[in-house]
Amino acid sequence: MRHVFLAGTACLALCAGAARAEESVEVLHWWTAGGEAAALNVLKEDLAAKGVAWKDMPVAGGSGVQAMTALRARVTAGDPPTAVQMLGFDIREWSEMGVLSNLDTLAGPAGWDKVVPQAIQAFSKYDGHWIAAPVNVHSTNWLWINKAALDKAGGKAPADMDAFFAMLDNFKAQGIVPLAHGGQPWQDGTLWEAVVLSRGGMDFYKKAVLEADPDALSGETMRQVFDDMTRLRGYFDNSFSGRDWNLSSAMVIEGKAGAQEMGDWAKGEFLRAGNVPDKDFVCIRFPGTQGNVLFNSDQFVMFEQKDAGLKDAQLKMAAAVMDPAFQIAFNKVKGSVPARTDVPDTDFDACGKKGMRDLAEAAANGTLAGSLAHGHGQPSSVKEAIFDVVTQQLNGQISTDEALKRLPQAVKAAM
Ligand code: GAL
Repeated sequence: MRHVFLAGTACLALCAGAARAEESVEVLHWWTAGGEAAALNVLKEDLAAKGVAWKDMPVAGGSGVQAMTALRARVTAGDPPTAVQMLGFDIREWSEMGVLSNLDTLAGPAGWDKVVPQAIQAFSKYDGHWIAAPVNVHSTNWLWINKAALDKAGGKAPADMDAFFAMLDNFKAQGIVPLAHGGQPWQDGTLWEAVVLSRGGMDFYKKAVLEADPDALSGETMRQVFDDMTRLRGYFDNSFSGRDWNLSSAMVIEGKAGAQEMGDWAKGEFLRAGNVPDKDFVCIRFPGTQGNVLFNSDQFVMFEQKDAGLKDAQLKMAAAVMDPAFQIAFNKVKGSVPARTDVPDTDFDACGKKGMRDLAEAAANGTLAGSLAHGHGQPSSVKEAIFDVVTQQLNGQISTDEALKRLPQAVKAAM
C-alpha cells in the first residue's frame, strides 16, 4: 500500500528526505525566476497533495538552452529525469529517438484530442501518439510598458513601429532607459522575431522564419528589420549585455526603464511585484502585430525509465498538468494562458483575458505561428544559426549588409 502524503508545503519539507519508497518525479525545468518559481510551486503543491513527491532539477537560463544541454548529459549517462519541461521542436527531436513515454492511456479517456488546440497538438503528439502534456500557451510578441512613464508620454500605447520609436524618444527625454533588453542570444531572437512580424506581417514571418525562404531572409523587408534592430539598440542602457530577462522586467517595474519586449512570462514578474495591469503596467501586442500571435507552449514529457514503477507517478503528473482547475491556477501566476480551450477566462486578469482572446482569434484567422526563439519555429540547429547572425548584427559586430548575406547561408548550413 502506498504511503499517504500530507498535503501542501508541509509534505514538501517532510518528504524531501524520506521520499525514496514513495512515488516521486524528478523534474528538469528552467523556471527559476520569481514569477516562474511561483507558478511551479502551484504544480509542486498539487502533486504533493496527490502523493507524488517532487525532486527538483532546476537549470537556470531563459528559454531552456542550458536545461537542454543538461538533459543531453543525463540521457547520455543513461539516467534521464522522469519528467522534463520542453518546447516544440525539442519534443519532436526526442520523440524521434524513441525515448519518451507514451501517454495515450491517459490522454485517450481524458479527451485531450478535443481540448488541446491543433497547433499545440502538432508538438504534443508524435506518430499519432500523445508524448507530452502541455501546461500552457505563451506568446512572445508582447510589449510591457510602465504605466506612469506611458502616461507622461501622452498615455497612448504605440500601434506601429513609428509610434513605438516616438514613445521610446519620449522615455529618453524623461531620463529613463527607454527599452529594457537583455543581450542574450535567445532574447535578441525574441526581439527580432517580433520586429520581423511587425514589419512583414504574418505571411512574411511564415515565409522567412518557418519556410526559411532565402529571398525573404535577405530581401528589403529583412533589411528594414535589421535597420530597426540597430535603431532599437540605441535605446538600450549600457549594461544590457548578458542581462537576464527578469532583471529587465524589474527595471520596468521599478520605473527605471519604460518598456520591455518579452513573452508573457514577464507578466509573472509584474504580478509577483504586486503590480496590476492597466494600473502599474500596460500589456500590448508588440507594435504592429495586433491580430497575430507567435506562440510557445511549455510541455512536460516523460522519459522512459528502467524502473517501470515510476510510470504511475509520471501519469499522475501528466494528469495533474492537464486538469482544468490546475491550468487556471498555474497560468494565472505564470502569465501564460491555458493549453485547453475549454477553460473559462473568468479568473484571469486583463492581460490574461486578452491573451486568451488573441490566441483564439489568431487560431481562427490563420495568424497563429510558432515562435522561433522559443522552439516552435525551427529545429534548434536552425534557431541557433539565426540567433548567431541576429546577435552579431545587434551588437554591431557585423553590418546589416553582412547579416543579410549570412542569414540564408547560416540557415541552409544548419538544415
Ligand atoms: C520560455 C518558456 C517560458 C519562460 C521563458 C523564460 O521558453 O516557455 O515558460 O520560462 O522561456 O525562461
